[in-house]
Amino acid sequence: MEIIKLQNIYYEYSEDIKVFDGLNFSLNNGQPVGIIGANGSGKTTLFSLIMGLSRPQNGDVILFGKRCTEEKDFARARRKIGYLFQDPDDQVFCPTVEEDIAFGPLNLGVNLDDVKKVTEEIMGELGIEALQKRITTKLSWGQKRLVSLAGVLAMNPQVLILDEPTASIDDNVIEKITEYLKNTNCSLLIASHDRRFLEDLRADIYLLKDGKLTYK
Ligand SMILES: Nc1ncnc2c1ncn2[C@@H]1O[C@H](COP(=O)(O)OP(=O)(O)OP(=O)(O)O)[C@@H](O)[C@H]1O
Ligand SMILES: [Mg+2]
Repeated sequence: MEIIKLQNIYYEYSEDIKVFDGLNFSLNNGQPVGIIGANGSGKTTLFSLIMGLSRPQNGDVILFGKRCTEEKDFARARRKIGYLFQDPDDQVFCPTVEEDIAFGPLNLGVNLDDVKKVTEEIMGELGIEALQKRITTKLSWGQKRLVSLAGVLAMNPQVLILDEPTASIDDNVIEKITEYLKNTNCSLLIASHDRRFLEDLRADIYLLKDGKLTYK
């Protein structure tokens, strides 16, 4: 089943910053997809169109079989999609690490005991238990990225959209993330400059260039 489908997307930030003109893309259930492409090629823009954080000037965004045009359509779809922002400062906002990771599942209505359990599990899998009580604003960049990732995983989404999940992450933790993602049932869509990581996940790799995606 097609989980995400973009049809004939046109998107520009302004007249002189055209990003997509006639872009087509689909993500099918179960098959991981990696997007590679130069800085500024439009990977993050593609994700923000899927999430409904930007709207295309033309074309269709179809999520879980439904064409999304209004905020309420995207809001419904977003409940099933975990989105890791490229910049953790757009994502981490609770005072402490444990509160930040718990925020998503609590917001989805998961009960407190289960939230505590899942928070601890995820921290263990990513090896960040020691950060549990730390103040989020005082974390290193890489630590903040791991906390954002933990928060996204804690929501147990059907689909994971990850923008550069291995950037600023050390090799040891990349291995842990790779293992986690290999074993997850989530559908994966990942932008990354780390080709080896995408290959380890056995992702289909697409190159984004000149506003077009081509299979590599
Ligand atoms: N908010 C914005 N306003 C204007 N232009 C923008 C904005 N965000 C991105 N752009 C421009 O749109 C183009 C695509 O940017 P985008 O961030 O999607 O690229 P990217 O592939 O994610 O790059 P990177 O690998 O550096 O993360 C670039 O030319 C960028 O400068
Ligand atoms: Mg980007």
